[in-house]
Amino acid sequence: MKFFADTAEIGEIVGLAELGLVDGVTTNPSLILKSGRDIIEVTREICSLVSGPVSAEVVSLKADEMIAEGRKLAEIAGNIAVKVPLTWDGLKACKTLTTDGLMVNVTLCFSANQALLAAKAGATFVSPFIGRLDDINLDGMELIADIRTIYDNYGFETQILAASARTVNHISQSALIGADVVTAPPSVLRKLVDHVLTDKGLEGFLKDWKKTGQKIL
Ligand code: E4P
Repeated sequence: MKFFADTAEIGEIVGLAELGLVDGVTTNPSLILKSGRDIIEVTREICSLVSGPVSAEVVSLKADEMIAEGRKLAEIAGNIAVKVPLTWDGLKACKTLTTDGLMVNVTLCFSANQALLAAKAGATFVSPFIGRLDDINLDGMELIADIRTIYDNYGFETQILAASARTVNHISQSALIGADVVTAPPSVLRKLVDHVLTDKGLEGFLKDWKKTGQKIL
């Protein structure tokens, strides 16, 4: 499973990239706002740091305008994935942009039927939002599992990009289900390493090592 960093903060991306943890990046208008940067400039900088897909989102509601925005965003770098919303216009834009040969990430997916439409429209990625479904007492993980089953039933090649991952369990469960990619904030990705028994075990080993009076270097 690939890891994408869900952020437009350069410092965070660099930190994770050093660990080999960034297979791609996802941004959205809220993350651009949070970065305080110009969308074109910050996206160009991200694309220069990461060789995998970098999602940049259109903001128009009409297909023809989404297509124009998508083509402009795609000029930033060869690894841009144009992000379009899961609406009829978004699907129409998806079809045109993928026919252009561009990567397209269909975002704001909240149902299996929507995911089916994204695959039919030729999406490179579909982004089902786990955390936002959990927020309204629905089951985000169940949606990931349903989409996996449907895509496997028919051999759809659209990659399932599990999004809105808020916890480490969202990540492990996405991996168990077989999501192709998970995107999560760097703070959540960093938590993957944590285990109380690792900390406790290390403390014990170092205590005993001190008692040996030995040195390796
Ligand atoms: C995905 O591409 C979105 O940017 C993101 O995962 C949304 O997450 P949120 O629901 O935590 O805002």
